[in-house]
Amino acid sequence: MSALIPPSTWVTRFSEDAAGPVLDIACGAGRHSRMFLAKAMDVTAVDRDVSRMADIADHPLLTLIATDLETDGDAWRPAPLAFKTVIVTNYLWRPLLPSLVEAVAPGGRLIYETFAQGNARFSKPSNPAFLLSPGELQNAVEGKMKVAAFEHGMISTPQPAMIQRIFAVKNPSNTVS
Ligand SMILES: C[S@@+](CC[C@H](N)C(=O)[O-])C[C@H]1O[C@@H](n2cnc3c(N)ncnc32)[C@H](O)[C@@H]1O
Repeated sequence: MSALIPPSTWVTRFSEDAAGPVLDIACGAGRHSRMFLAKAMDVTAVDRDVSRMADIADHPLLTLIATDLETDGDAWRPAPLAFKTVIVTNYLWRPLLPSLVEAVAPGGRLIYETFAQGNARFSKPSNPAFLLSPGELQNAVEGKMKVAAFEHGMISTPQPAMIQRIFAVKNPSNTVS
């Protein structure tokens, strides 16, 4: 396995007291899945290319799902209210967003960080289809989760980029307080 990049600081910041089961969408090489497995949490990791997870594919706490999330019609979607922690980093497929919010269990959290409009001047992605618009993650959780932290702006590490990120929590009774 090639060297893993470290977990996102946004994810580590809001994972201290996170609970499983965890859903890691578009897990890539699994830098976040591995972090939660190391904390003995159940992890479901999803990606169309799970080859970079081969070394941990038989981990007893890992459910690895190889699927194209952008398939028309019958794409895999998480079960509603099934995950205490839902993680997405550096991936956006807008039609998936509502089901990720729905997948968060009562009292659970959504930790999402990806590229935003304006990123084209730094690097890829530059296609607007893969860039969040101002307030988009806030809008996605509105009325369903409480926004505990939100940022939209330029970062300089691990490399210059325009990003948007949210940490949102679902009410234990599944209503917004
Ligand atoms: C930039 S990587 C981010 C990986 C990981 N979340 C991280 O931050 O380290 C984007 C990931 O999205 C996955 N991906 C892209 N299109 C996908 C699709 N249609 N269905 C499932 N996964 C997809 C890629 O295989 C890749 O692993």
